[in-house]
Amino acid sequence: MSSLAVVVLDFGSQYTRLIARRLRELGAFSVILPGTASLEEILTHDPQAVVLSGGPASVQDPDAPKPDPKLFSSGLPILGICYGMQVLAQQFGGEVERGWRREYGKARLTHHEGALFQGLDGEVQVWMSHADTVTAPPPGWRVVAATEDCPIAAIASPDGRSFGVQFHPEVAHTPQGNRILANFLALAGVERDWTPARVLDSLVAEVRARTAGKRVLLGISGGVDSSALALLLSRAGVEHLAVLVDHGLLRQGEREEVEEALHSLGVNLEVVDARVRFLAALRGVTDPEEKRRRIGHAFIQVFEEVARRRGPFQVLAQGTLYPDAIESAGGTGAALIKSHHNVGGLPERLGFELLEPFRYLFKDEVRELARLLGLPDGIRLRHPFPGPGLAVRVLGEVTEERLQILRRADAIFVQGLKEHGLYHRVWQAFCVLLPVRSVGVSGDERRYGYVVALRGVTSVDGMTADWARLPHGFLDEMARRITRAVPQVGRVVYDVTSKPPATIEWE
Ligand code: XMP
Repeated sequence: MSSLAVVVLDFGSQYTRLIARRLRELGAFSVILPGTASLEEILTHDPQAVVLSGGPASVQDPDAPKPDPKLFSSGLPILGICYGMQVLAQQFGGEVERGWRREYGKARLTHHEGALFQGLDGEVQVWMSHADTVTAPPPGWRVVAATEDCPIAAIASPDGRSFGVQFHPEVAHTPQGNRILANFLALAGVERDWTPARVLDSLVAEVRARTAGKRVLLGISGGVDSSALALLLSRAGVEHLAVLVDHGLLRQGEREEVEEALHSLGVNLEVVDARVRFLAALRGVTDPEEKRRRIGHAFIQVFEEVARRRGPFQVLAQGTLYPDAIESAGGTGAALIKSHHNVGGLPERLGFELLEPFRYLFKDEVRELARLLGLPDGIRLRHPFPGPGLAVRVLGEVTEERLQILRRADAIFVQGLKEHGLYHRVWQAFCVLLPVRSVGVSGDERRYGYVVALRGVTSVDGMTADWARLPHGFLDEMARRITRAVPQVGRVVYDVTSKPPATIEWE
């Protein structure tokens, strides 16, 4: 899989992951590395080109992050975007001036020329977000685009294979940005054969090579990632045991649905009923991070028991996705906001090797692979679900009674979304049970019932999210249906907070 890579060096731009996505949309496999990665590390991905992202620093600052100087004599074609262009300009002897005023927003190219801009139609709108500017191109480099406020908006290297652009071709506000990126890929000679079928072939090969002669243990959460991974192992003919731990924190009907689908697709699956153990571990606990810790610990115990009973296993497979990997590594500046779901500590404790074939994929890419692997749409397109499950959606102490209330309300909400054709228009939607009672009337009586919050968000990868504008009529129907069917619930509210500042989950 690595032989097709464009390495994107990240200098802290909010758009870095968009660059990677755009390149993949164009059929060029891309990997993000920290901006200061060594050339040796970059070369392990066998890249055909390198993109330098934007970033908040000024190249004038002595401690500004810079690429490994060896990169510039490596012969790799480079596209520098915004800060990345300034890095290129400075490196090759151009001039960069510190700007104290930020140019931010849409601009129009007043001039563009050359191969990077080939095939663009009509007026070319671009998105600008910068303070510093290149005021003189490096010797031998050509200025190939300008806007009214930015006379050096793009530069081309003497060999015509490296470029700097002051604007952001990766964002939607540069409508012809993909054309510009595609031109760069063509000029750099990057192969554009990143298709789901090819990815699947190379993953099958990778998994086979990594597990030859070894037995693999895999935790199944019920979501698309781990289910797809189980199917990948089956497809690769790898000897494995998939374990679905029913911790009692799953959604209504989830265990049965996963069990049925994976069995019918030939996955060697064991379901461990650990509901009593998890509930006991959570008794009296109200702190969200403590809940996560205890759940993680109980997971480890269950896996240790399975490994002892059914082992030995040499490899632990996990469905870690690219955003998880980036977030956990913290390498590109993302802070670890919540302790991570992947069963932390398990590989070290049991002496497992870790196998994470999806570590470079985004969720929609895994969904595409899952389609090729035959995963039913019910699981394939299901909204993401946190590892600690409903424990972080029952706020405060988790009890069986509260779980049951939440499960019923949640099933009604999810069903309602599907009936109204809204389910696939949101990234994630679920109910949260609040640990407060609110007053209501029922007949002549005042009653105190639970409050259920409905949460629906739109998002690309869960890192940022906007609250979903669900129709009022639909919300009204949900409130009626939930309070009617679940008598313990006295009030239903809708969460209208985006991420940031809120997170998607309430705990
Ligand atoms: P937040 O709540 O941090 O969630 O905005 C972002 C995405 O991650 C999921 N999430 C988790 N997943 N273990 C997981 O496996 C967790 O502890 C966890 N916390 C949040 C959340 O559902 C959303 O998709």
